[in-house]
Amino acid sequence: MPNRTALITGAARGLGAVVARRFHEAGYNVALADIAIAPVQALARELSQDESTACAIELDVTSKADFETARDALLTRWGTVDVLVNNAGASKIVPVMEITAEQFDQVIDVNLRSVLFGCQVFGQYFANRGAGRIVNIASLAGQNGGSATGAHYAAAKGGTLTLTKVFARDLASRGVTVNAIAPGPLDLPIVHESVPADTLQKVMAGLPAGRLGSASYIADVAVMLASADAYFANGACWDVNGGLYMR
Ligand SMILES: NC(=O)c1ccc[n+]([C@@H]2O[C@H](COP(=O)([O-])OP(=O)(O)OC[C@H]3O[C@@H](n4cnc5c(N)ncnc54)[C@H](O)[C@@H]3O)[C@@H](O)[C@H]2O)c1
Repeated sequence: MPNRTALITGAARGLGAVVARRFHEAGYNVALADIAIAPVQALARELSQDESTACAIELDVTSKADFETARDALLTRWGTVDVLVNNAGASKIVPVMEITAEQFDQVIDVNLRSVLFGCQVFGQYFANRGAGRIVNIASLAGQNGGSATGAHYAAAKGGTLTLTKVFARDLASRGVTVNAIAPGPLDLPIVHESVPADTLQKVMAGLPAGRLGSASYIADVAVMLASADAYFANGACWDVNGGLYMR
């Protein structure tokens, strides 16, 4: 594959790290972006000792300027950016009646404002060059209202699905596709850390698949959506939720 570059946000751990590894395996140069710089530097060096095909970028997804700086740095480094995966996310479990304005704004900023800024900065650049792929990591919570993860998170992910369609429509005629993936609960450290064990048991019992989802499969879907052949898939939400939610 000739010199293709993918930028993955929130690549320091969890799903983002798995997605970054998968793009690298698929032959992409990968830019690992996160506010946590040390782990992305370590992962970049693990993937590419001399950092010729993987690099770390300190990027706060709530800052549009950080996306612009990252775009410019990658153009200088590799001459091209072809794929943006808006993966970074965060939440804190709070009952809906108790969410404060500050908590609401924080979760909306990291999960939704990030998608707006990423799509604006890279969508414009992709449109100008007539090619590009954006994959937004949403969530089942954005479709069914969620439960354990919090109303602010579910609202942000629902907004991500809407922005996916808005940007897909806006950029469709200029060689750019924008799609979302909506995973159900995945077998990742954050799930085991943030969901109490008894709640997790109940979640798994309610999953038709009978077990948590595989992050590496989500990464496969992201790579599939990033391919040149995926030009006809646009504005879509790819449900990967173990059969928990069907529409
Ligand atoms: N884990 C699941 O079961 C699951 C299910 C559905 C959707 N998702 C989505 O997948 C994505 C990744 O989730 P995860 O489980 O790997 O979470 P995680 O908490 O393990 O990783 C999130 C990463 O985002 C980074 N991050 C947080 N705030 C940031 C900011 N302001 N700027 C840049 N980076 C920032 C963190 O440093 C971290 O590396 C999220 O969008 C999440 O909503 C996860």
